[in-house]
Amino acid sequence: MQDYEYMQLAVDAAQQAQWRPWKNPRVGAVIVKDDHILAVGYHHQYGDVHAEIDAYQQVADKQQLVGATIYVTLEPCAHTGKQPSCATQMLAWGLQRVVVGQIDPNPLVTKHGVERLRAAGVQVDIWPIPVSEAINPAFHYFFTHQLPYVTLKVAQSLNGKITAASNEATKITSAVVDEDSHTLRAYQQAIIIGSTTALVDQPSLAVRHVHTQHQPLRVIIDRRGRLVNSAAVTQDNTLIITENADFATQAEQVSYLKVVTPQTILHLLGQRGIQAVLVEGGSELHAAFVQAHAYQEIIVYQTTGLLPNTGVSSFGTADSMTDLGKIKNVKVIDNTLKVTIKREEA
Ligand SMILES: NC(=O)c1ccc[n+]([C@@H]2O[C@H](COP(=O)([O-])OP(=O)(O)OC[C@H]3O[C@@H](n4cnc5c(N)ncnc54)[C@H](OP(=O)(O)O)[C@@H]3O)[C@@H](O)[C@H]2O)c1
Repeated sequence: MQDYEYMQLAVDAAQQAQWRPWKNPRVGAVIVKDDHILAVGYHHQYGDVHAEIDAYQQVADKQQLVGATIYVTLEPCAHTGKQPSCATQMLAWGLQRVVVGQIDPNPLVTKHGVERLRAAGVQVDIWPIPVSEAINPAFHYFFTHQLPYVTLKVAQSLNGKITAASNEATKITSAVVDEDSHTLRAYQQAIIIGSTTALVDQPSLAVRHVHTQHQPLRVIIDRRGRLVNSAAVTQDNTLIITENADFATQAEQVSYLKVVTPQTILHLLGQRGIQAVLVEGGSELHAAFVQAHAYQEIIVYQTTGLLPNTGVSSFGTADSMTDLGKIKNVKVIDNTLKVTIKREEA
């Protein structure tokens, strides 16, 4: 097998973890000696051992590691976090070569892992095309821009309506589609909704149907303070962002910003280390994010039902889905099209 085939195996292994690494990147590793695969490993879950160590633990005879090559999708870490530094541990294995899929954008790691290995005489090759970013868009975006990666999510009828009327909650998707959107939630550290959606739907915003150890932070945008005295104010794991200074003094969960815009919201969440954010609407809030170009991805669950033409339209201003970006993926789930759109960054 060739280098690229081993690296592809490492990428496939990384993806097996799905949402479970949470804020950590999905990483895969393959250890090879004399064209023979000794082990395939990945980072299974937030807080667990890293991919390199997962692969290492599967090699029964550690002598086989002497002179071996490891393919790893992201630079081995050089700092002690929840786990000891991988680069330091790897030095004891007697590896001949380390092939790194991409340099880690986290400043605690960037190039330090590679430098530590090279300084000890290990050959380190950096993959010519970065492989980790495609597996971990939010992780790379966050460490490159110090802002969360934003996905707008909407479920709409065939005629592009998200609800029959603004003051009314309309069920649009089936239970099977709901399960898919809960998986989408499990990848996020925060979910944002507008004040009307909070008042009308009162959604729990929790991840259900999918096993996760982390619930995303509920973020409600309430510039005017319409949620004063509502149950949301005392809910745990909740952040209400407001321009109403009096409201902000009433509870710890309420944060004051002089001007609330998509940019100031994302700046605040970025400061809190939130890498991935899902904006679940409604229409006005989505329109504000679209107008500000404050999103990287949109997921539309396009159902086949119709709602009254007087209902609330998705995204307010955009004429069609193609105005929002490039359609990257279309999948059918239970009679519903799941359309993934990526915005072309300027
Ligand atoms: N089918 C779906 O996927 C779906 C999803 C969610 C909601 N819905 C439905 O949508 C309806 C509510 O939608 P809606 O459009 O009426 O209201 P909404 O988006 O829930 O609420 C409007 C929000 O946008 C904020 N906002 C407006 N312009 C802004 C700007 N330039 N910068 C920052 N924030 C801005 C408002 O802040 P202030 O309130 O502080 O002014 C408010 O929080 C409900 O009926 C709900 O059931 C459907």
